[in-house]
Amino acid sequence: MNIVITGASKGLGKAISEKFAADKQGHSFFLCARNAETLKAFATELQARFPRTTVNFYACDMGVKAEAEAFANWVLGFNKPVDILVNNAGQFVPGSISNEPEGVLEQMIQVNLYSAYYLTRVLLPHMIQARQGHIFNMCSIASLKAYDNGGAYSISKYALAGFSRNLREELKPHQVKVTAVYPGAAYTDSWSGSGVDPQRLMDAGDIAEMVYATAHLSPRACVEDIILRPQLGDL
Ligand SMILES: NC(=O)c1ccc[n+]([C@@H]2O[C@H](COP(=O)([O-])OP(=O)(O)OC[C@H]3O[C@@H](n4cnc5c(N)ncnc54)[C@H](OP(=O)(O)O)[C@@H]3O)[C@@H](O)[C@H]2O)c1
Repeated sequence: MNIVITGASKGLGKAISEKFAADKQGHSFFLCARNAETLKAFATELQARFPRTTVNFYACDMGVKAEAEAFANWVLGFNKPVDILVNNAGQFVPGSISNEPEGVLEQMIQVNLYSAYYLTRVLLPHMIQARQGHIFNMCSIASLKAYDNGGAYSISKYALAGFSRNLREELKPHQVKVTAVYPGAAYTDSWSGSGVDPQRLMDAGDIAEMVYATAHLSPRACVEDIILRPQLGDL
């Protein structure tokens, strides 16, 4: 399969890449993140651990329209149909509407919503024409539930869920699947330094397992929503 994953150098994106790479089918990966060195280090490691895979990578900021579209066109340049697209790149900034700094909402919308919209819109005509593919949008429990310190992050994740639901409706007749993933807290870099006990949270691999399983159903079935929470519930 040809697998495009944004925000792939750490956390959930990294775990999803590793899960697909481990199934030994020799998939081709098209990965991005902003930091070129971290991305290259992960891509090199993935390629070495799973020699049957082909790992391509491209450093870009998915919150910048021109860079997201350049990444999309770089993917198209390989002339391979996209089988899996994981719109995962995102950023968590806690805050409250009343007192978060000016500009945070714009930043959250850029990185958490527009990133997926920009990339998907360039790849979509090709997926529709090929009548295949599966798009995963990394939403959050913060897409479903308001909570203290949700602020702009939660607003942007509600918007991403709206994007995902509309896309699902639009793509039903085109044989392209759409799944919204709504994870609760999973221990990744987003949580390092927070003081939260990693054992209280899910493992990034838990989310990867669900994405992987969902990608392996028959063409007649589409898992529309994946909702996962830590066993003890939300923090
Ligand atoms: N972990 C959780 O508890 C949790 C729960 C619900 C939803 N989520 C969502 O899951 C996604 C991944 O979160 P995570 O916890 O895995 O985060 P993470 O550990 O901080 O990793 C984020 C990844 O995305 C990349 N990235 C960040 N901003 C980017 C941008 N503008 N353009 C391109 N790449 C970018 C990062 O690399 P660079 O820094 O080098 O760009 C990194 O590879 C996010 O959308 C997040 O909102 C996470």
